[in-house]
Amino acid sequence: MPNVTFIYNGQTKVVQGKDGQTVLQIALDNGIPMEHACGGNGFCTTCMSRVTAGMTNLTPRNDREENMGITEEPYRLCCQAKISGDVTVEIPD
Ligand code: FES
Repeated sequence: MPNVTFIYNGQTKVVQGKDGQTVLQIALDNGIPMEHACGGNGFCTTCMSRVTAGMTNLTPRNDREENMGITEEPYRLCCQAKISGDVTVEIPD
C-alpha cells in the first residue's frame, strides 16, 4: 500500500493509504487534522495543501480544482486528489 507522508504543525507522520483514496480521506482516517469545510466536495479550498513529492502519483488536477483557482503546482485540493503511489503532503498552518 502506498505511503502518504503528512507534514503539519511542525511534525511529520507517515501513514498508509489505498489506491484510489483521496488524500483527505487518508488524513481523516489517520487522525490528521485537515480542514474540509465543504465536506470534501471541492467547493471550499480549506483542504488545499502543498504536494512536495509524488505529484505524479496523484490523479490529474480536475475541473473542481480548476474552478476553485487551484491551478499551480505544488498545490492541490486534497479532497479531489486520489493516490496511486507514495506522496508527501504539507498542510498549511
Ligand atoms: S474539502 Fe472543500 S475543497 Fe476540499
